[in-house]
Amino acid sequence: MKRISIIFVFAMLLCTVFSQNKQLPLYKNATKPIEKRVNDLVLRMTLEEKVMQLNQYTLGRNDNKNNIEDVLKQKPAELGSVIYFNNDPKLRNEVQRQSIEKSRLGIPMIFGYDVIHGYRTVYPIPLAQACSWNPELAQKASAVAAQEARMSGVDWTFSPMIDVARDGRWGRVAEGYGEDSYTNAVFCVAAVKGYQGDNMADNKKIAACLKHYVGYGASEGGRDYVFTEVSPQTLWDTYMLPYQEGVKAGAATLMSSFNDISGIPGSANHYTMTEVLKKRWKHDGFVVSDWGSIVQLIAQGVAVDRKDAALKAFKAGVTMDMMNGCYDKYLVELVKKGEISKKELDDAVKRVLRVKFRLGLFENPYTPQTTEKERFLLPVSLKIAEQLAEESMVLLKNENNTLPLKAHSKIAVVGPLAKSKWHLLGSWAAHGNTDDVISIYDGLEAELGKDSQLLYAEGCGFDGNDTSKFAEALKTAATSDVVVVCLGEKKDWSGENASRSTLALPEIQEKLVVELKKAGKPIILLLSNGRPLELNRLEPLVDAMVEIWQPGIMTGKAVAGILSGRVNPSGKLAITFPYSTGQVPIYYNQRKSARPHQGKYQDIQNTPLYEFGYGLSYTTFEYGDIKANSQKVKKGDKLVVEIPVTNTGDRDGMETVHWFIADPVCSISRPVKELKYFEKKSLAKGEIRMFSFEIDINRDFSFVDESGNRFVEPGDFYVIVKDKKIKIELTD
Ligand code: GLC
Repeated sequence: MKRISIIFVFAMLLCTVFSQNKQLPLYKNATKPIEKRVNDLVLRMTLEEKVMQLNQYTLGRNDNKNNIEDVLKQKPAELGSVIYFNNDPKLRNEVQRQSIEKSRLGIPMIFGYDVIHGYRTVYPIPLAQACSWNPELAQKASAVAAQEARMSGVDWTFSPMIDVARDGRWGRVAEGYGEDSYTNAVFCVAAVKGYQGDNMADNKKIAACLKHYVGYGASEGGRDYVFTEVSPQTLWDTYMLPYQEGVKAGAATLMSSFNDISGIPGSANHYTMTEVLKKRWKHDGFVVSDWGSIVQLIAQGVAVDRKDAALKAFKAGVTMDMMNGCYDKYLVELVKKGEISKKELDDAVKRVLRVKFRLGLFENPYTPQTTEKERFLLPVSLKIAEQLAEESMVLLKNENNTLPLKAHSKIAVVGPLAKSKWHLLGSWAAHGNTDDVISIYDGLEAELGKDSQLLYAEGCGFDGNDTSKFAEALKTAATSDVVVVCLGEKKDWSGENASRSTLALPEIQEKLVVELKKAGKPIILLLSNGRPLELNRLEPLVDAMVEIWQPGIMTGKAVAGILSGRVNPSGKLAITFPYSTGQVPIYYNQRKSARPHQGKYQDIQNTPLYEFGYGLSYTTFEYGDIKANSQKVKKGDKLVVEIPVTNTGDRDGMETVHWFIADPVCSISRPVKELKYFEKKSLAKGEIRMFSFEIDINRDFSFVDESGNRFVEPGDFYVIVKDKKIKIELTD
């Protein structure tokens, strides 16, 4: 009897759900395939409703609940998206409720935000993350950012930024993963997976946005927003790979770039956004403009007015208008006049709706209200941020085993960054909070204060010429056993619109080190910056040097771990540090010179101060010879190369092996060498570990032509690790 009643109840439930679904318009029926829901919804939309879905305004930074009516009036219920600046879901839910309840079709809005290297748990800037050579860890950090963001009302981040950059004068070099295309591609995929997971409808995941599509890192002279000379060949062999891999990884969106790509701005570039992205790569998400990048087509001289800019951007492939005020004003008219077809418009709207359905916004348009304690700074999140900070720091110099610090020392901690917090967050720090940051001084005090004595002196500011605090700093240094001097950049000296004419630190900072040198004590230089630096005058003055980058809220803990020796540094540079700014651009995979031994600068050395991949450890590693399972292969053969690495020092450590290939002769001149794989492993003291690389000949020996076609030519190749190489003969 009981069984019958359970079956009866279950049957009734099924009927109810079925009948309810039956009454629902198809697009609201979550049991239907997303494509069917998208198509059903678009058919129901008016022209005006379609156009409003292609617009993004801003929302937030106004918590005054008395203004909510004004805020709601400014956001039409049919609006597609906003950039959400609050860090609490309350306001979001109010505005979303209007979209759901006050619009005819109840289409939810999507809320975007720049979550670049953390939301509230701010971890190292992307350039630093690349120096960890630990994409798995970077992925975990991105997952933390996604969780904090989604729980705070953000569904979509304008990240990862994957612009290959070789000119450190460009402030945005901080936001990407360095000078190498493959490195950017690997960390791009890690970030996309961290943000999106396997299912974006999970309320701890967010949609990713590959930016800035494309070639923005080639900004001439490192000046922001300007012309970029990117030949079709260079477009494909340097800039496109990270985007191609990010699209393959399922990135929901891309952002079109400001820069003029050899005459056609990224936001009006039909080739990149439609021919390649939509037709060849079959990307079915959408492209959002950069802020104002549509209206800026006028300034760039390719659009006569806003209507023309709207038309050119839309026809090229920009789906959503971020804060240009162009699509909302002109698209209806352009469609009515037939300059934009209904088919083109519907395709754009479907792309936006598809991402919204995939995010689950139709089923869950609102963000559950939680406390800050539930949302932010979870212990597991802090641990990930700390580990990523530790692994991204690069030991550049360590003479006479100055590091790790000796116990029972008097340690002078000096410089503008010794007690600073805000600047350690780096650019694009989202809702990073100064009070969350552990300063260098505080971190050292907590770690070493028990049996060492810390002394402090500011010494100088970040810039200017005030030397009034030098004397006190020198006195402090003279009474110490060792001096830790903390120099570097302010938070806003890198990031957007933050170009600098030189990579050198302000003279006052260099002068402070000269002054401290008079104390005759060992000097450890810590550098916090968002770009490669010019260090040729500082390097000889100091005994040890650590590039800590802008590590985020766990700075002090990570620095203390490394200086105390609790952590063995394992970072290696993902961007070349030139000997001087005059060498820029200088990067490891330069193309071949006609006269490699000539054509040098006459007035300075021609090698960088620290090359790509450089980084020391507290232990030492010895590399054996590369072995290959065969040195004569054909396409399709299995080729495995391996190299033994021995930890020859007296402590455990982690080592990253970078695998490069060189193709001395090719129908298109190739870079002197190209990174194709890397692997980071821990090695106990005395341990030997084999690092191996399974080469896919079509992937790793191939090159790409100016149309983006990959090709492999027979001939000699070299597989290179450090100064070791092995020749591989590829036959037809
Ligand atoms: C900015 C940046 C872009 C950012 C966007 C939204 O101008 O170029 O990276 O995502 O506007 O803040």
